[in-house]
Amino acid sequence: MTDPRARHAELIQAIEAHRAAYYERDSPTISDAEYDALERELRGIEAEHPELADPDSPSQTVGGAVATGFASVRHRERMMSLDNAFSIADVAAWEERVERAGGPREFVCEPKIDGLSISLTYEGGVLVRGVTRGDGTTGEDVTANVRTIAGLPGRLAGSGVPEVVEIRGEAYLPVAAFEELNERLVDEGKAPYANPRNTAAGSLRQKDAAVTATRPLAVTTYALGALEWGAAAPDPRAATQIGIYSVLKGWGLPVSDLAEVHTGVGEVEAYLARLEARRHSLVHEIDGAVIKVNDRDAQRELGSTSRAPRWAIAYKFPPEEVTTRLEDIRVDVGRTGRVTPYGVMTPVTVAGSTVTFATLHNAQEVARKGVLIGDTVVVRKAGDVIPEIVAPVVAARTGEERAWVMPTVCPSCGTALAQQKDGDVDLRCPNAEGCRGQIVDRIAFIGSRGALDVEVLGEKAAAALVDSGVLRNEGGLFDLSEDDLRRISLLTLEQDSKKDGVARTAGDVSTNGLRLLANLDAARSRPLWRVLVSLSIRHVGPTAARALATAFGSLDAIRAADPRTLASTDGVGPVIARSIAEWFGIPWHVEIVRRWALAGVRMKDDGGGAGDRVLAGLIIVVTGSLEGFSREEAAEAIASRGGRASSSVSAKTDFVVVGANAGSKAAKAEQFGVPLLDEDGFAALLAGGPGAVA
Ligand code: IVH
Repeated sequence: MTDPRARHAELIQAIEAHRAAYYERDSPTISDAEYDALERELRGIEAEHPELADPDSPSQTVGGAVATGFASVRHRERMMSLDNAFSIADVAAWEERVERAGGPREFVCEPKIDGLSISLTYEGGVLVRGVTRGDGTTGEDVTANVRTIAGLPGRLAGSGVPEVVEIRGEAYLPVAAFEELNERLVDEGKAPYANPRNTAAGSLRQKDAAVTATRPLAVTTYALGALEWGAAAPDPRAATQIGIYSVLKGWGLPVSDLAEVHTGVGEVEAYLARLEARRHSLVHEIDGAVIKVNDRDAQRELGSTSRAPRWAIAYKFPPEEVTTRLEDIRVDVGRTGRVTPYGVMTPVTVAGSTVTFATLHNAQEVARKGVLIGDTVVVRKAGDVIPEIVAPVVAARTGEERAWVMPTVCPSCGTALAQQKDGDVDLRCPNAEGCRGQIVDRIAFIGSRGALDVEVLGEKAAAALVDSGVLRNEGGLFDLSEDDLRRISLLTLEQDSKKDGVARTAGDVSTNGLRLLANLDAARSRPLWRVLVSLSIRHVGPTAARALATAFGSLDAIRAADPRTLASTDGVGPVIARSIAEWFGIPWHVEIVRRWALAGVRMKDDGGGAGDRVLAGLIIVVTGSLEGFSREEAAEAIASRGGRASSSVSAKTDFVVVGANAGSKAAKAEQFGVPLLDEDGFAALLAGGPGAVA
């Protein structure tokens, strides 16, 4: 075991280095969650070895220092930090401590804004100073910058304004403004910022207030520091925490509209769950919630430790952004031959799942992100989206990192890569016929929901079918037999088994294999547009395929059509028309179609299916994320039933489907009186049309 004293010293050194990077250079070297873990470990050691705890330990101080370059200002009243809770059990334990100390069970719950704390001093109602937290006692004078914040009044409203008041709050950059700023930087060929918090911190600590003025910073206020009422009568509402927010609001200051009073741990827990579900639809980033004793007398009685009040606690959400090591950058070839780089990372848990790979899209993207192999990188997985490598942690470089070079040959078949057309960003493997990677991906794609939707036919089964030599390409897919599958260990039984009273021997086709055959059988009669999509013709996605199927009715007619006729079809156009003509010009493509047709795959729409067009003429908007559908799949489900999926809500919209973390569209729908549906309602609508959800 390591010597606790040595580990304690090591932790202090690490924490201080990380604090300096975060607070002074606005460029953190580890994720918030990892930092929290270091502080927790430090506290753990100090709890067991009290002799190691001293007033200078980071467990007793708040992070941050006063950078040179700004005048330092002493806060009239100290600015504190908050203790953290990482689970509901932690929150419950804190509430119990509060109650044991005689505190009441009434709490204010509110978002913990991921910005930077700021203290605003108003004298005679006039804003005279804005100061960063600094070390809690002394901060940096950023008054000139604070004055550029649009939502912050220079003069307090109302008549009962105190002589002197320090108002504490959080300065932040709204997520939308952050994204806009980054888009602009990228357009200008500059490096984007890593996250809104650091951008806000960097913006507020600009030497040139004119630069700060271009950043649409905002503030939410949530506490009072020093307060001298002077001639004004003390506002009685200041007797509770929630009352303070009314007072602040009355003065014209921005306060959170998500602060709520709750009694007991059960209610608090429900609030935390609700807030977390909305986490990504708020205007600013939040990293948790703050729970505060509502009664101010009780707050005073509970008091504070050297760094944090005992009457409040920060509940931290599980991290969505972590750092890990980028072990390697590799490339993969997809079904259309496009070769994409992806990062291989030291596995790391983010937002509840383990992440090892993340796409890097193309060589330009790797260059834009500026990541090197061996870098510590920030990985993000916000909500249920795909993991993303956000940026390298440049400050953590050791000099051992190396630049990645885009390979010149296909990783699967070794063919020299090329641009398909001049001006293409992507490099492709031109060997579509023989490249194993492309063949496997094309076959797996046929099984995907957007194509023929063949359960069991995924990446693994596709690879097994090709690697066993059973399939040379997708041409033979619908001719597969049990005999074929017996040659594939993945789809056969490893040992004797008995299912539904039937004895089966090792080597027989497994249940999965049998399901694959049954599913392929069913897939033969899917609508023509899905068959078209399954052929992996470049640019022919669901929308174009549906337009083609509707206009021409059969694959033969599409093949025979003159490119000009194709191009003038609504929803098709010249690029797609050319792509189709080129595709049918290649003999092995025609052979695939011939074999599929022989195997009974549907090659023409028989005009039926009108009963399926339950959404004919309806305009439907889907907002937020649904569990059972990606955005594209939802749009397809709507279109295939004759409806139109739109992205903006207007008075013409018939339904708005609201998924998790929906943004402003739901509110807009209510404004127009458009009916809202949840995911179950959406399913009912798809199945039975508007009558089913009336
Ligand atoms: S109250 C005396 N309320 O979180 C208590 N802080 O991790 C002062 N923060 O330093 C803090 N949102 O910068 C409070 N609603 C909120 C907050 C909040 C964000 C920040 C604040 C504090 C840090 C502690």
